Amino acid sequence: MKITKVAESRFGALDYKTLPFGSLFTDHMVVADYKDGKWSTPEIIPYGPMMMHPSSSVFHYGQALFEGMKAYKDTAGNAFLFRPDQNIKRFNRSCERLAIPQIDEQAFLSALDHLIALERKWIPDEEGSSLYIRPFVFATEPVIKANPALEYRFCIICAPVASYFAEAIAVKIEEKFSRAAPGGFGYAKAAGNYAGQFYPTELAKAEGYQQVVWTDAQTHSYLEEAGTMNIFVRFNDTLVTSPVSDTILDGITRKSMIALCKDLGIKVEERAIAVKELLEGFENGNLVELFGAGTAAVVSEIKSFGYRGINYELDVAEDAYGAILKKALTDIQRNRAVDPHGWRYEIKANV
Ligand SMILES: Cc1ncc(COP(=O)(O)O)c(C=O)c1O
Repeated sequence: MKITKVAESRFGALDYKTLPFGSLFTDHMVVADYKDGKWSTPEIIPYGPMMMHPSSSVFHYGQALFEGMKAYKDTAGNAFLFRPDQNIKRFNRSCERLAIPQIDEQAFLSALDHLIALERKWIPDEEGSSLYIRPFVFATEPVIKANPALEYRFCIICAPVASYFAEAIAVKIEEKFSRAAPGGFGYAKAAGNYAGQFYPTELAKAEGYQQVVWTDAQTHSYLEEAGTMNIFVRFNDTLVTSPVSDTILDGITRKSMIALCKDLGIKVEERAIAVKELLEGFENGNLVELFGAGTAAVVSEIKSFGYRGINYELDVAEDAYGAILKKALTDIQRNRAVDPHGWRYEIKANV
């Protein structure tokens, strides 16, 4: 792989441990360009600003999407990714839906491997901290015609991060706004899906919540996702999560947790969860725990939910499934436990 290294690393010049999530980036990035019907071979260059035409198609029609994944270090300093094949496949599913040319899976994985090998020193050691990896693609063709662009740029950048949403959160069950509709692209990590969430989430924040729980667009009576996390509800001893569909992101944390539940003997169901069932569970004491699951925080316990102006406060569950699953998952990610499913990917490139 072609690598152009920085003359001087910025590592050590900043105390990144005190920076907020995602505002400091490592020295290098991966880039590849799509032109004349094909992708160039990805290469690594110094991280820095990029020149763009004001007419670049992405600014007008929003062909842009991304992935979110992390690199972890074990105590011996070996670096690992977690199920990178799943992020790559989901990236390409998102590309298909947004009419963006897909990236060769092997070239993508090799680019990740080389970039993380090069940036290994940026992976924080502290528990809960990691190196967040952001692959993304956007339309660069300088044309304002409402068609799929003929030119794109693919990049991978990295940001050292401390844990995100460490505290239990308060959420609002949303009944007015929708994140995704059937036949739309809620299942894709399209940039526009996130832009559309900001306004309703800001309104919820002004009411004292940290996140919105999205409900189905037609009836607003079934839970879909908790902000940018998949949602899990524990009724008695059974964990339930909404089934993935074209309106719900097929979360890698979610599917890994379902597999871990089966390994650990925790009863788990994938089925629609009605808001009514949540309220009834709260009233009759069957609702034990509520949490969101995603790469950023692994598990975010939900301490209360707001619905139609009423706040429902949950007690902290003893032996919370969220905490058990978080530990089981992070032990695999950080090479502290056996990996029966082969989820860990060790960084091997020699750079
Ligand atoms: C909308 C949405 N749902 C769920 C998730 C969780 O997916 P994953 O576990 O793959 O990070 C994410 C991303 O983090 C997301 O953006």
